[in-house]
Amino acid sequence: MSINKIAVVGAGQMGSGIAQVFATAGKTVTVYDISQEIVDKSKAKLQKGLAKQVEKGKIDQAKADAIMANISYSADTEYSDIGDTELVVEAAIERLDLKKSIFQKLDKATKADCILATNTSSISITEIAKVVEDKSKVIGMHFFNPPVVMKLIEIICGGNTSEETYNTVFALSQEIGKNPVTVDEAPGFVVNRILIPMINEAIDLVQNGVASPEDIDTAMKLGCNHPMGPLTLGDYIGLDTCLAIMETIFTETGDPKYRPSLLLRKMVRAGKLGNKTGEGFFKH
Ligand code: 3HC
Repeated sequence: MSINKIAVVGAGQMGSGIAQVFATAGKTVTVYDISQEIVDKSKAKLQKGLAKQVEKGKIDQAKADAIMANISYSADTEYSDIGDTELVVEAAIERLDLKKSIFQKLDKATKADCILATNTSSISITEIAKVVEDKSKVIGMHFFNPPVVMKLIEIICGGNTSEETYNTVFALSQEIGKNPVTVDEAPGFVVNRILIPMINEAIDLVQNGVASPEDIDTAMKLGCNHPMGPLTLGDYIGLDTCLAIMETIFTETGDPKYRPSLLLRKMVRAGKLGNKTGEGFFKH
């Protein structure tokens, strides 16, 4: 099944980037969020980003215009205008109750064979699918930040995902120029199961006074050739998202090695979430 009409739920950094990836590949995309203000912000950010790419000579004006023309925005939280959309990628915040409520509404609003994908960073696809009547069309399609740059998509089948849904999403991921990997359902999947505990460990090192945030990041950049140090990356992903992922891995496995750092909890409680709030381990 070829997919051409797509909806993305969530106009945050992931949702906006995912929509851009699809629109660049020539797909028709509608981006949904809960207010006009949020979707307007997403649109303005895309316009600015594309203008920069034109200025740098990466794309021409005609391509930028075509990408913009492929994306529309909606603040309809019932998705009543979603029509004959063939795939929805949900990229809302990492909260199971919220994702379930979105999927319940999507199940009612979309056509019977519309694939319902989630960009969840760690939550069980099988659990999210519980609120959908036909669970065979629910799947994980996990993009990485920034979606426009990062080549990987983790494709995660839930306990009831059909082979047809998997094949369609795998082929689409390749068609849009990404490199899909198939991952069995497990807390944190592959990347976040390795990456987020590493960031958590870096936060524990700050808490224990082993080294400064600057020196920890320098150590990992120069010692492991990582493009960003773990604390810069934690700020970039969002410390609230990092905490939510650690909580899921910790709760699901029951293994104390995944205990979220107390300093991470404190930072999130203090609203120091990283780039999006202007302060995390670093000022932005
Ligand atoms: N949107 C679009 N393009 C972007 C971008 C963005 N947000 N950020 C950077 N780019 C582009 C730039 O325009 C530039 O393109 P060009 O080479 O064509 O000019 C290119 O990416 C490189 O950018 P910069 O020169 O500004 O900066 P860097 O070379 O330092 O690269 C980076 C920036 C790509 C973000 C790099 O630092 C990096 O790879 N960091 C690690 C990112 C990472 O680990 N992501 C995964 C996070 S985990 C995750 O997402 C899972 C989730 O579930 C939590």
